[in-house]
Amino acid sequence: MSNSLDEFADRLQEEINQEVMETYGEQVYERWRNPRFGGPMENPTGRGRVTGSCGDTMEIFLRLEDGIVSDASYTTDGCGSSAVCALVACELAIKKESEMLTEITGEAILGVLGGLPEDDVHCAFLAAETLQSALDACMRQGG
Ligand code: FES
Repeated sequence: MSNSLDEFADRLQEEINQEVMETYGEQVYERWRNPRFGGPMENPTGRGRVTGSCGDTMEIFLRLEDGIVSDASYTTDGCGSSAVCALVACELAIKKESEMLTEITGEAILGVLGGLPEDDVHCAFLAAETLQSALDACMRQGG
């Protein structure tokens, strides 16, 4: 009984994996399977919080050391794509000099992901805007 239930669950998971891969492509799939940078950060240098036009809210936390991003993390109450886009924003920000963060635009995030379905494109722009808001907060701290 439990074996057939396990098999059913495995098959279902496999179908979901396949669907995500087909709809969103390999770059999104890889990050969806290996989530990183999720969760709030204690004592960040700066934190940005933006609610997008879709009504979802994202936060990005940055820690700067000597003008370089040493750590980044995010939270979102939005869709799966918003989590993947926030992850990419963190991925791109880490180890960068703070002044380089303005180059992390919605287009840059979409570029890393190889694009997103049209309905999800705005999630990348929300991630970029949240990152800029976190950077602004760092600058206000003198970071
Ligand atoms: Fe709102 Fe993706 S962030 S739908």
